[in-house]
Amino acid sequence: MATDPVPAVELRGLVKQFGGHEALASIDLAVMPGETVCIVGPSGSGKSTLLRCINWLERPDRGSVFLHGVRVGYCRSDGRNVLMSDRELAMLRTRVGMVFQHFNLWPHMTALGNVIESPIHVLGRPRGEAIAEGERLLAKVGLTDKRDVYPAFLSGGQMQRVAIARALAMRPEVLLFDEATSALDPELVGEVLAVMKDLAREGRTMIVVTHEMKFAREAASRVVFLDNGRIVEIAPAPTAAYSHAVRAGDFLFVTGQLGVDPKTGALVTGNAAEQTRQIMQNLQTVLRGAGTSLEAVVMVRIYLVNFAADYPAVNAVYASYFKPGRFPARTTVGVTNLALGSLVEIDLIVRC
Ligand SMILES: Nc1ncnc2c1ncn2[C@@H]1O[C@H](COP(=O)(O)OP(=O)(O)OP(=O)(O)O)[C@@H](O)[C@H]1O
Ligand SMILES: [Mg+2]
Repeated sequence: MATDPVPAVELRGLVKQFGGHEALASIDLAVMPGETVCIVGPSGSGKSTLLRCINWLERPDRGSVFLHGVRVGYCRSDGRNVLMSDRELAMLRTRVGMVFQHFNLWPHMTALGNVIESPIHVLGRPRGEAIAEGERLLAKVGLTDKRDVYPAFLSGGQMQRVAIARALAMRPEVLLFDEATSALDPELVGEVLAVMKDLAREGRTMIVVTHEMKFAREAASRVVFLDNGRIVEIAPAPTAAYSHAVRAGDFLFVTGQLGVDPKTGALVTGNAAEQTRQIMQNLQTVLRGAGTSLEAVVMVRIYLVNFAADYPAVNAVYASYFKPGRFPARTTVGVTNLALGSLVEIDLIVRC
């Protein structure tokens, strides 16, 4: 079996209950480094709870959360899992940047003061260094001229951009946004989304709860649909490698193809074997996100543009993802072309 890169954030079997109500019902989701995953769903579907469980602002009732492969909430001691202390949790939370609907800036501090406060007092960075980085971050969010201005004199959009700079100042491994634009006047939404889009383009790992479907379309690697505490669909995004999962009864139909990278506009590259590897890795991520794995695949169809030339190499890469003797039923077909420079498409039917 080929080895996967380690997800930046991984949720396994996450359950959170409030009283008798199950706000999250067994969520499995892996977010790879550099991905921007948008989470959409109706009010009360568990979006905020999911984000809050990632850094244990809510303690999950069951399941586990991993940040770059390290379990959140527990440490190993004498071979046992022991709950993290508040101090350990606080340190861990510094690795996750959060931007909420309401900016929660400190009113008695300037824009720069808000940005440098935690780097200096929580992380112990030297003041001069924190100021230099704070100024750079304010420039990045387009607020150089607001450096010494207090929040009361900033617009909602400007406050939210300070909040983003403040989150970035902690150099987080992952950024979580919870409806960061939904409290803003409509004319201010664009400036905040533009900053978020830049961050996505830079390859930051982001999980974004949003109703802004245009942002999801333009910036997301994948869109996760949440309903009633469950992931009901993981939808495609036109990134270099994307997959589309549709549930039908007990089966999941997953399309693994390559497309144009919206961040660079680049066409698909690589030979058929490399493309197959990219598709298979992406399919694994999508299946894991849907709570299943390649072991549950019942049927595969592989499409090849250069059937005769590419079949052996593609087959070898494909087969390396399955246990010997456990190959699902498969058909391989030649096609005259696939979109955008793709040489391979792999579709799966999965029992779940
Ligand atoms: N602290 C809490 N105590 C009790 N119930 C809660 C708590 N937090 C959330 N819930 C419940 O859990 C469910 C999921 O809430 P959550 O806030 O995660 O939804 P959401 O998808 O973010 O909704 P919205 O779009 O309105 O922000 C809801 O039924 C909510 O009432
Ligand atoms: Mg919410």
